[in-house]
Amino acid sequence: MHFFAYKNKRFYAEGVSIEKIAKEVGTPVYVYSKKTLLRHYKAFSSAFSAVPHLVCYSVKANSNLAILKTFAGQGSGFDIVSGGELFRALKAGADARKIVYSGVGKRSDEIEYAIKSNILMFNVESMEEMAVIDAIAGRLKKKAAIAIRVNPDVDPKTHPYISTGLKKNKFGIETEAAIRGYVYAKNNFKNVMPIGVDCHIGSQITEISPFVAALKKTRELVLTLKGLGIDVRYLDMGGGLGITYDKEIPPHPTRYGEAVIEGTKRLGVTLIFEPGRVMVGNAGALVTSVLYTKKSGAKNFIVVDAGMNDLARPSLYGSYHAIKPARENNAEEITADVVGPICESGDFLAKDRLVKDIEAGEVLAVMSAGAYGFSMSSNYNSRPRAAEVMVDGAGFYTIRKRETFKDLINGEVVAVPTKKRAKTVKR
Ligand code: LLP
Repeated sequence: MHFFAYKNKRFYAEGVSIEKIAKEVGTPVYVYSKKTLLRHYKAFSSAFSAVPHLVCYSVKANSNLAILKTFAGQGSGFDIVSGGELFRALKAGADARKIVYSGVGKRSDEIEYAIKSNILMFNVESMEEMAVIDAIAGRLKKKAAIAIRVNPDVDPKTHPYISTGLKKNKFGIETEAAIRGYVYAKNNFKNVMPIGVDCHIGSQITEISPFVAALKKTRELVLTLKGLGIDVRYLDMGGGLGITYDKEIPPHPTRYGEAVIEGTKRLGVTLIFEPGRVMVGNAGALVTSVLYTKKSGAKNFIVVDAGMNDLARPSLYGSYHAIKPARENNAEEITADVVGPICESGDFLAKDRLVKDIEAGEVLAVMSAGAYGFSMSSNYNSRPRAAEVMVDGAGFYTIRKRETFKDLINGEVVAVPTKKRAKTVKR
């Protein structure tokens, strides 16, 4: 449920028409609804209110400081995958004791930063990584709490690029090897404390059964480990709950909650969740203006000022995003591709879509773009990244300025002539 809707034939985010935002801030612009963010957080968290739990919003879905701060203000923790995400979370006022650090390729400097910041735990993806964490923690004279990310070999029935819990995926450690890993860690690594079990099987999951299947395996693992004298206090279920982009009907967090609570009865652990998409996906839209229309007998194109550099999902995964005109009209419907200005045929926001015929200058909202929208955007084709705006009731404010041409070359150095460089080296 979100707070984007038509009122008197104008499309609104809460109490502000998207045309007004487009006029004042320009396009392309990401527009988020604060009320929706809060509603999603509450819906998710309250689904687990009966049991000890911690929601760690997955920063990668949308890492804007204002969004992180909104969740931090609700008591949310954070799931991070890089030093950069840790930096952002801390800047937004996160409680480090509510931060979990996931990812297959953590660098030593990032691990050190996280240990020094006193995060809750590392979700470890290989024994080599655990050895590095142990060594760094030892050097810092600290203990690092860890969970092993287990790969339960469960099919999440989602797009192959965002499926992570199958044996063939690069993520996690197989259950049997994980058990050996915990025992090895307990006996050999003095500076890591195994305190949890972690699992994340994929994203945009629209059925309950893959979660239940994964839970069955992780539950058994927790019991086995406890039997081996390992003090498992946390079970991290990862993220992955899907949202409606088109016609999907994913389980409501309450149903997910019921299934999880049922599956973790008397396990004696605090549950951790790492939701990303379900928190922010339908709380954001990418607002863009129509630049041109190209109509031929064979094909209609609506050329807009947002491209695959702004929203990569349609090009990357062929994903569907609903498109809503800022003004509801009675024009005839045409089938068209909504395309961006990037010099690639893969640059489209919608393909063969039935849309109301539209003219240059009109404003469109590309829906469900709050998750993996701006956070995956780039400067490809030297396009400054879009502005981001937060709507709060009847008002709105910019939470990220539109990039300028100057921002594009920030940090770039024009090569110094060889002679001068030699001189610099000598010094
Ligand atoms: N935890 C871990 C360890 C993850 O890898 C992810 C997402 C999440 C939590 C959050 O998952 P969510 O609740 O958002 O499904 N760019 C893709 C999605 C990639 C997901 C990567 N990992 C997309 O646009 O669909």
